[in-house]
Amino acid sequence: MRFLSTLPLLLGAAFALPSPENIQERATGSLASWLSSENTVALQGVLNNIGASGSKASGASSGVVIASPSKSDPNYFYTWTRDSALTFKALVDQFIAGNTSLEPLIQQYISAQANLQTVNNPSGGLCSGGLAEPKFEVNLTPFTGAWGRPQRDGPALRATAMIAYARYLIANGNTTSVNNIIWPIVQNDLSYVTQYWNQTGFDLWEEINSSSFFTTAVQYRSLVEGSNLATQLGKSCPNCVSQAPLVLCFLQSYWTGSYALSNTGGGRSGKDANSILTSIHMFDPAASCDSTTFQPCSDKALANHKVVTDSFRSIYNVNKGIAQGSGVAVGRYPEDSYYNGNPWYLNTFAAAEQLYDAVYQWKKIGSITITSTSLPFFKDVYSSAAVGTYSSSTAAFTSIVNSVSTYADSYMSIAQKYTPSNGALAEQYNRADGTPLSAVDLTWSYAAFLTAYNARANVQPASWGASSAKLPNSCSSGSATGPCAAATNTNWANPGSPSTPTSTGGSCATPTAIAVTFNEQKTTAYGENIYIVGSIPALGSWNADKAVALSAGHYTNSNNVWYVTINFATGTSFNYKYIKKAQDGSVTWESDPNRSYTVNGNCAGTATQNDSWR
Ligand code: NOJ
Ligand code: NOJ
Repeated sequence: MRFLSTLPLLLGAAFALPSPENIQERATGSLASWLSSENTVALQGVLNNIGASGSKASGASSGVVIASPSKSDPNYFYTWTRDSALTFKALVDQFIAGNTSLEPLIQQYISAQANLQTVNNPSGGLCSGGLAEPKFEVNLTPFTGAWGRPQRDGPALRATAMIAYARYLIANGNTTSVNNIIWPIVQNDLSYVTQYWNQTGFDLWEEINSSSFFTTAVQYRSLVEGSNLATQLGKSCPNCVSQAPLVLCFLQSYWTGSYALSNTGGGRSGKDANSILTSIHMFDPAASCDSTTFQPCSDKALANHKVVTDSFRSIYNVNKGIAQGSGVAVGRYPEDSYYNGNPWYLNTFAAAEQLYDAVYQWKKIGSITITSTSLPFFKDVYSSAAVGTYSSSTAAFTSIVNSVSTYADSYMSIAQKYTPSNGALAEQYNRADGTPLSAVDLTWSYAAFLTAYNARANVQPASWGASSAKLPNSCSSGSATGPCAAATNTNWANPGSPSTPTSTGGSCATPTAIAVTFNEQKTTAYGENIYIVGSIPALGSWNADKAVALSAGHYTNSNNVWYVTINFATGTSFNYKYIKKAQDGSVTWESDPNRSYTVNGNCAGTATQNDSWR
């Protein structure tokens, strides 16, 4: 049915009528045939960008997703937690839909994340905020340059990706792998979310430090499915249960009356594809058109779709002359100036995907309800739309479903029009003429194509439990600190036994304790001594009287170093500082912030931390 409206074009092509549309159709082929060839290109495009064997990811560790092979202008040869999680969520869904060859890669991703969680980085350590570090080097070492950090959507999205695979494993009788490998990683991410959801951070575009609609939404989702997973495993996540309703309550506060404000700060209109992405990543095929969880077919999400996509109609030359109700090129937000502000493939696909999802939901529910909130959206695609409910037996229902399907396809056609013939998807395409721009072969562009393609084909992801959403009577802020420990088991072949820590590459029995040597550079005068004090009992629980003394045994004129070696249980995380005690007993503390450390497992059983007084 949705192809009816393209029929005249196809006929035109057959008779070679000399109109511009015909030329376009003949040049690129029909949408359906492009979609099916692009589907192959997109999957390969994703796989090329995943280490260790991806053809464009040379140097990336196993299971590590590079954002793009581009190493300059811009340099995207890093692994972002967000891009990786969204990519693997798409791959898990492809795997569940039948592409069984993807399973080893999914397991490699999960193992890599177990390791990555323990990497101390500028946002912190495993249990001190480090999970929201936005990006790492592709060999899983920290990226230490300046960046918009923290980005608090990462842990939530990663939990969601891993839970999707966990659900599959449980349904297929492999609960052991979920209990022993996946749950410990997921639990750390959930604890991150329950502790920090109410704090500001950088948005998904890495520019504004405030609260962000997408971030809050995906945090809510992770807590719901995290809690459900815990229950399935006979465990619990009490903090998920206590915080989720508060997060959901907060999510409602972004609504402006006509669209979702994407960021609470930044001084922009807040019209942003952030919110369209929110609708597709909150989509639950088992849910109704509920606006509290911003379901794609909800009145708020549809009203928002119109406001956000309309914001790009007049500003991009490539959108000139395109009528309301027909798809346009979609960017991040109208005020964008990155590469002069252009449409992005992934946002154009997302605009289509939301509409495919909505059509699925209406058909499943058996009716479409138009409210005064969503009326402007419907008027664009069905001019006689009026507030009310149209059951699936009415002609109006059929007309609306058909025209929204056609409308969705028209966004895909825009992307098609500006995709080169080899199918390569960069990050952006030029607002003036549609030429591809910025990072080449952006993994997320390919992943966004795959999810839109499946939405169009009615290949649905699993339900995540959106229907259970229940708003509390009143909103409040909140935070709950939960369990946090290094996940050390990545032994998929034998999930019952912890495996070799991945960081060393060698083969050994996991040491239960690691001897960590702390070297602290500090020039001291005779009679002064250096101590280490920290958040755990072994380091005096921040009590200077119980601090552990360092030795001056390695101190020389040219190397003013104090040291001490302390044994810790593998996986321990703590904060610490060095202090100086003078002969009279007076104590000088290092300046803030506290340092943090996580005791990662390794074959050697030893580790060294080099610091200098601050
Ligand atoms: C790099 C970020 O990845 C991008 O999102 C941002 O727009 C630019 N920096 C400019 O801040
Ligand atoms: C810039 C985008 O704004 C951000 O969302 C993305 O994570 C990075 N590029 C990497 O693709």
